[in-house]
Amino acid sequence: MTDSEKSAPLTMLGIETSCDETAASVVRRSADGRGEILSNVVRLQLDLHAAYGGVVPEIAARAHIDLLDAAVRQALADAKLGFEAVDGVAAAAGPGLIGGLIVGMTTAKAMALGLERPFIAVNHLEAHALSAGLTDHLGFPYLLLLVSGGHTQLLIVKDVGSFERLGTTLDDALGEAFDKAAKLLGLPYPGGPEVEACAARGRPTIKLPRPMLGRPEPHFSFAGLKTALRQEALARAPLSDATVADLCASFQEAVAEVVSDRTTRAMDIYAARLGPEAPRALVVAGGVAANQRLKAALQAVAEAGGFRLVVPPPDLCTDNAAMIAWAGAERLARGLADDMAAPARARWPLDPDAPPVLGAGVKA
Ligand code: KG4
Ligand code: ZN
Repeated sequence: MTDSEKSAPLTMLGIETSCDETAASVVRRSADGRGEILSNVVRLQLDLHAAYGGVVPEIAARAHIDLLDAAVRQALADAKLGFEAVDGVAAAAGPGLIGGLIVGMTTAKAMALGLERPFIAVNHLEAHALSAGLTDHLGFPYLLLLVSGGHTQLLIVKDVGSFERLGTTLDDALGEAFDKAAKLLGLPYPGGPEVEACAARGRPTIKLPRPMLGRPEPHFSFAGLKTALRQEALARAPLSDATVADLCASFQEAVAEVVSDRTTRAMDIYAARLGPEAPRALVVAGGVAANQRLKAALQAVAEAGGFRLVVPPPDLCTDNAAMIAWAGAERLARGLADDMAAPARARWPLDPDAPPVLGAGVKA
């Protein structure tokens, strides 16, 4: 690819099928690197999984087969474009549930082959990480707090494909902790929004631990907090609505305090590594970034550290295909594309050089 082609505007079709959202989107990247979402279709499978209290991988994969073609057609129709207008096809290639990833990638590869356009295998985590470039035209580098159902990480985002992991979770992801908290309190799945709504009606009066507070490395751990919540709930059974609300509020406060502490630590490391001239921005991405209490806590932390807080809007924080299309466009603009042998990957860390952390059921 020549330099003049590199800076040409790109129209990218993106597909996301790594978990239980079947999503397709068309995004345009202009020559100066700005992004525009032309369509953003997300088909949720919540009702299929709700009865099981979590995502069932095989059900998700089958539902992707049923829903994806229509989602792609809708994305093109909403963008008022035909297939021929697409310059490349991107699909989430991991990390995630392997059956769903294979459905999305096979569909994307078939379209890329038929259209004779490049195929781009996108790391789902990189897509979350780069979404601030799409929504806020944010330049590199920046500090990223990625908090989703499967991942909890603090990373320096240096460029497309260049990440340094500062912290990760030793056990549960933060969204997973919210989901498990909701389940043990009898609230429906997905638990994050339920716990947040319940917390708004309660007071944070129940004492819960603050795992990892003050540790030098900005890692996280949520398994102990969840266990403590279970014990406090059992001690108060049968639970009234008011007690459930107080438990939710107490859990959310503990989370806000821990995440604030860990992020402050990561901001210090970021500033020390990159020096005083480096731009200071803190990006929060992933489904849990929709939590308003957490956002307020992180706003205070960012201000105290002299960082600008960037949180993409909720529909671009939770899983979506616009972020996949955008990451695909960012890669293609740099001449990066993949061949048809690109595999789906259940695990795919952003920073392969990051040392393993002790006791980790780490999900990357
Ligand atoms: O990024 P995402 O859509 O999917 C994954 O890649 O995991 O994140 C989903 C997670 C779920 O665990 C959900 O409970 C959590 O994000 N979540 C929230 C909120 N909204 C979604 N957690 C806390 N508060 C919320 N408002
Ligand atoms: Zn995600």
